[in-house]
Amino acid sequence: SAPKIALICGSLRKDSINKKLELALEKRLMAEGAKPVLIDLGAYDLPLYHGDLELPDGVKRLVTDLTACAGVIVVTPEYNGGLPPLLKNAIDWTSTFSTDHFTGPVWGLASCTPGPMSGIMCMRQLNYILMRVGTEVVPTQVGVGNAATAFDGDGHLVSEPSSSLAEKMIASLFLRIKQKAAIE
Ligand code: FNR
Repeated sequence: SAPKIALICGSLRKDSINKKLELALEKRLMAEGAKPVLIDLGAYDLPLYHGDLELPDGVKRLVTDLTACAGVIVVTPEYNGGLPPLLKNAIDWTSTFSTDHFTGPVWGLASCTPGPMSGIMCMRQLNYILMRVGTEVVPTQVGVGNAATAFDGDGHLVSEPSSSLAEKMIASLFLRIKQKAAIE
């Protein structure tokens, strides 16, 4: 059956270029026979973490929604060479409750920037943080620089090498999902 793949965007901005990349990857996933699931981090109402707060319901919902998927793709902007607080907060909050969503699905990383650098520093950080919580992240990362010319009029990702990287990342995800399922 079609594997469920969650897509998480690290930007809530209406005209987010990372949202654009998320939707382009959604199209790719559907074309490859997967079932993409858009996870809107704004819908989980997570306050900024601190240790005196009670566990918000949104934490359990987010863990449940992610754990139901065989794969997770994070599509995120880079802020000052690192990952945005929206994502770090979601990782930190959920890590206090469970690791199932980190260790169950296979994860992939993508990032879009207006300039040429394509969010490599952010994905590097994210890779490290996810490693710390036991996540398997596929090695191919989808960096998309020069966002203004990376998509066609229908929202397809067309620039190279980004387009080839997306193809490779999705193929790696599918392969690892299949291999994990065969072992379990
Ligand atoms: C940025 N931006 C940015 N870009 C980049 O390539 N490397 C960086 O380190 C940063 N740092 C940074 C810090 C902060 C606080 C902001 C607000 C922005 C620019 C960023 O890539 C650009 O605003 C994107 O359009 C943000 O992504 P969304 O919201 O369009 O998906």
